[in-house]
Amino acid sequence: MQGAIDEAVEALRAGQLVAFPTETVYGLGADARADAAVRRVFAAKGRPADHPLIVHLGSVDEVDAWATDVPDAARALLERFSPGPLTVILKRAEGVSDVVTGGQPTVGLRVPDHPVALALLRAFGSGIAAPSANRFGSVSPTTAAHVALELGDRVALILDGGPCRVGIESTIVDFSGDAPALLRPGGLDVEAIEAALGRPLADAPAGLRAPGTLASHYAPSARVLAVDARELDATVRAQAGRVVVLGHRDVEGIARIDLPEDPRAAARRLYAALREVDERGFDVAVVELPAPVGLGRAIADRLRRAST
Ligand code: TXA
Ligand code: MG
Repeated sequence: MQGAIDEAVEALRAGQLVAFPTETVYGLGADARADAAVRRVFAAKGRPADHPLIVHLGSVDEVDAWATDVPDAARALLERFSPGPLTVILKRAEGVSDVVTGGQPTVGLRVPDHPVALALLRAFGSGIAAPSANRFGSVSPTTAAHVALELGDRVALILDGGPCRVGIESTIVDFSGDAPALLRPGGLDVEAIEAALGRPLADAPAGLRAPGTLASHYAPSARVLAVDARELDATVRAQAGRVVVLGHRDVEGIARIDLPEDPRAAARRLYAALREVDERGFDVAVVELPAPVGLGRAIADRLRRAST
């Protein structure tokens, strides 16, 4: 792996794109200090330029190079949960480019908890701007093979770190306003964050430019219908075309792609399962919404967006 890391660092220094594993999903990385490189990320993804990217860091100690006026609560949260599936939005430091932040006065920072990501970040020695390594609007990649399918011809290198352990993107907490707000539920339980902060998180302010918070996102080509458990059977029966159930419960005579009942296991499987719906040519996937607690909240959020 060290040879591949060295090659990846060289590519980043040359302004090229490197896909790398994190504990959540694979990222499409560029040198966060190089505007031309970061622009390539937007071009490769087909992502609108005003949507900000998260800057990945090798250690919490680097936060002050990227952010200013960091509230104590944000620092405490970073110390407590980094490396881990947490992103904090902070006031950006001077010199952080509009290209990375989508022109916003804030920057998103996170320290990913994956040995390959950390080795890459530490060898590179600076921030790596990275969105999820998928085309804009489609399902996030949780294996190197997923990345190769969608972006293989647009990256210098894909570091293969195996399947992602968490499987769903980081939880984003915005510390740039009056009170810490939840911008995106994700791989770190909101309950754990609120316990650490000693207060509930506020809701995201309306009108924010955040692709992961667009109504339609994380969507396969098939129609996804996310329903409550008691509506599962009736919804399945009402569909025309090739229907599949995504979940842990069988509906008689209907194909099923497994999504375990345990939210942690379901998060790990979710995006591969959504991809499988398309690979196997189903027209409609009916999936049971989990209870919105712990990781279930993030799963329900993604399923709703996949179904819009
Ligand atoms: O787990 C993750 O967060 C993965 C891995 C690769 O780290 N990354 C990821 O990136 O999901 P992306 O670009 O697909 O989603 C990042 C979200 C977007 O909704 C973006 O708008 C939001 O973070 N974001 C980034 N910087 C922001 C900022 N300054 N203000 C508000 N939202 C921001
Ligand atoms: Mg994404």
